Amino acid sequence: MRPDETSHPTRRVNGAHREKRCRAALSSRRSHRWIFALALVSFVVLFVLTLMCLPTSREDAPIGVRNEPPSVTLLIWWRPFGNRQPLPDCAAGYGIQGCTLTEERGAYDRAEAVIVHNAELMRNWSALPRAPRPPRQKWIWMNFESPRHSGWLAGLGGLFNLTMSYRRDSDIFMPYGYLQSRGGDGDGDAQQVRARRGLVAWIVSNWNEEHERVQYFRRLRKYIQVDVFGRAGQDLISDSVTRTVSRYKFYLAFENSVHTDYITEKLWRNALVSGAVPVVLGPPRENYELFLPADAFIHTNDFRSPLGLAAYLKHLDLHPALYRRYLTWRRHYSVHVTSFWAEHYCMACRGVQASRHQNKVITDLAVWFDS
Ligand SMILES: *[C@@H]1O[C@H](CO)[C@@H](O)[C@H](O)[C@H]1NC(C)=O
Ligand SMILES: *[C@@H]1O[C@H](CO)[C@@H](O)[C@H](O)[C@H]1NC(C)=O
Repeated sequence: MRPDETSHPTRRVNGAHREKRCRAALSSRRSHRWIFALALVSFVVLFVLTLMCLPTSREDAPIGVRNEPPSVTLLIWWRPFGNRQPLPDCAAGYGIQGCTLTEERGAYDRAEAVIVHNAELMRNWSALPRAPRPPRQKWIWMNFESPRHSGWLAGLGGLFNLTMSYRRDSDIFMPYGYLQSRGGDGDGDAQQVRARRGLVAWIVSNWNEEHERVQYFRRLRKYIQVDVFGRAGQDLISDSVTRTVSRYKFYLAFENSVHTDYITEKLWRNALVSGAVPVVLGPPRENYELFLPADAFIHTNDFRSPLGLAAYLKHLDLHPALYRRYLTWRRHYSVHVTSFWAEHYCMACRGVQASRHQNKVITDLAVWFDS
């Protein structure tokens, strides 16, 4: 036995204690280091994430004013159908800041975007801007006619950067109208049925025997009275669509051709703003239901024949409670009809603001639009 092993037991014990304490201190220092490292890494990750999540890049807007939309000059190359209304103030009219609308062609070189309306383009392709396109400038193809009435689009591939139309899959989607929630709990007008002595009205200006709607009408009127107004019928009452139609229970919102999303003012203004229940002929019911409640309209496809539709309309005429079911959605929604062309220009400007960092070329416009 070695002497110090026996004679100094406490020293050994003390030594062991010290070593333990030392190890504890060491390991606690190590864990402090770990915590510090972890905190540092988290901080760096958070910092990077924060930078990435800042919505605007620093070149456009110093922090603090980044909610202000970028200013955009939008050149309207042609007035659609020669419309001469004064150009709107997008901030005052639609709450869209930063838009300068112009039809001065001298602004071409500094315009962020140029709107080209399809109907005029179809008349004269060579009237498009000739100068080389400024590098970041976008050309917008704008069209609200149906494919059948849009002319030959096959040559328009690779020319435009954005599309604007009634199709939901347009870059700038602009329906002819839409419903707006009234908010609150069903306190909207529940449209009176009173004073609607007329049964079915139809306004038609473009009468074409080849249109499906004319063929349908010819069969329908054998079974039910339809009052026709417009170029092919009686004059409008007080020259007003809504005054005329508001005397009727039903309105034939028949589109001139049948295409996806092609749901026009015939539904929104002629029927819904006038308070009549629309009877629609157009894309399938499911397509309409993307735009308005299923019980807000009657679809011609719901019936096997015009005879069935006529019988149903007469049935509703005799049963006001059933008829009123087609009006209950009005407690929750109001109808917005988009205003040609002021609203369109301003929405186009907003679309350009929103897509300013994107590059895009519409390579096959005809295939997309005709589909
Ligand atoms: C088409 O546009 C070009 C260029 O602006 C013009 O010179 C020409 O006269 C136009 N043609 C027609 C038929 O309007
Ligand atoms: C717009 O389209 C043109 C023509 O295809 C193309 O050269 C240009 O790069 C596009 N610009 C943007 C900003 O996408």
